[in-house]
Amino acid sequence: MKEEEVRSLVKLLAARLTPAEVAGVSIADYSGGAHQEEEALAATFAAGRAREFLAGRLAAARALAGIGAPVGPILRGSQSEPLAPEGYALSISHGAGIALAVAARRTDLHALGIDVETTGRLSRKLWRRIFTPGEAAALAGMPDPAASATAAFSAKEALYKAIFAASGHGAEMKAMELTIAPDGVFRARISNAGALGVPAEIDGFILITKEATTAFAAIPA
Ligand SMILES: CC(C)(COP(=O)(O)OP(=O)(O)OC[C@H]1O[C@@H](n2cnc3c(N)ncnc32)[C@H](O)[C@@H]1OP(=O)(O)O)[C@@H](O)C(=O)NCCC(=O)NCCS
Repeated sequence: MKEEEVRSLVKLLAARLTPAEVAGVSIADYSGGAHQEEEALAATFAAGRAREFLAGRLAAARALAGIGAPVGPILRGSQSEPLAPEGYALSISHGAGIALAVAARRTDLHALGIDVETTGRLSRKLWRRIFTPGEAAALAGMPDPAASATAAFSAKEALYKAIFAASGHGAEMKAMELTIAPDGVFRARISNAGALGVPAEIDGFILITKEATTAFAAIPA
């Protein structure tokens, strides 16, 4: 995705994300700016993966700076989650040529998750692993099932990240039952919320553009 497309996607997202801050970096155009410790981590990855990782770190630093957070190297936790500075929530995603990061003060949002996918990319073969029978039936009846399924998958990935940030546990894809309104606003019922220690319902929204499908989920403070 070109810088210009990145800017317009970030602008669309920013309008809906307050009080969280969002930043985006074109993966193809990434040309440095990450911390030395992050560069050292990236040196252990293959070239393409290193570039998306570093573009994500740069986006994260910009999102954190936007809410006045101290920005040092963003290291990784034991399950590869990004480690935000104390008192801040942070999530990173890369896909469709863009690295996106979203950050908030934990006094505003307890935990958050962002995900970006190429619009319409989710293979039908994966539906059974991701969606409940009710969700699959609803998706099959949509005018563009592939685009809708990618959007629903993206929402579940964003939810997964927010739930992991809040609980330290991975959630099952089929333990999140989505209801998505025509404007992209969604609510997920989390069937094992009690065991995970997260709210039984978590809200978010999906934004679909030609190039990218982006989803955001947040657990309130
Ligand atoms: C962790 C997971 C959510 C990452 O999503 P993805 O679409 O593969 O990749 P994205 O680019 O959107 O996100 C990657 C970023 O998520 C973040 N991340 C990784 N693990 C995380 C976790 N446990 N919690 C929160 N964030 C996490 C990292 O910042 C990572 O980027 P980085 O390594 O460059 O820092 C995903 O791999 C996963 O495990 N999903 C749930 C399992 C599942 O059932 N998936 C369905 C497969 S059909």
